[in-house]
Amino acid sequence: MRISAEQKADLIQRGLEARAGSYAPYSQYSVGAALLTRGGGIFTGANVENAAYPLSMCAERIALFKAVTAGEREPVAVSVVTDNGGSPCGACRQVFSEFGLDTLVIMVDGEGTVVREMTVAELIPAVFGPDDLT
Ligand code: THU
Repeated sequence: MRISAEQKADLIQRGLEARAGSYAPYSQYSVGAALLTRGGGIFTGANVENAAYPLSMCAERIALFKAVTAGEREPVAVSVVTDNGGSPCGACRQVFSEFGLDTLVIMVDGEGTVVREMTVAELIPAVFGPDDLT
C-alpha cells in the first residue's frame, strides 16, 4: 500500500518528536520511530537502554508492539529517525516481517531528511517465517 506525501511527512515529523523520548545513556544513539497502520493509526517509539546492555529495546519494536497490542496488526509504513539515517537492526527486521513484508521503512536523519526507503522484504531477504515451521 502506497502512502501519500502528507502521510510520509507526518511519519517523519512524529518520528523526530518520538526520538525525544529516547533513553540512550550508554550508546548516545537516540532512535525515534513512527508507525502507520492500515487502520490509520500512528504509533511511536524510542529506544530504551539498560545497564544490562542486551535488555535494551529498539524504537521500532516499541512502536510495532504498541500497535499490535492496540489491535493494529497491519503496519503500512514506519519512519526510523537517527542522527545519520541508520538502518533497522536485524532483530527489528525479523520482528517486522511477522506482520508484513511490504511495510515501507523510511530511514530518516536528524534533520528530517529521508536517507533511504526500503520494504521489509528488501531489508530481510530469505526471511525465516511461519511457513518454515511446517
Ligand atoms: N537501535 C534502535 O533503536 N533501532 C535499531 O534498529 C538499531 C539500534 C538502538 C538500540 C540501542 O539503544 C542503540 O540504538 C544503539 O545500538
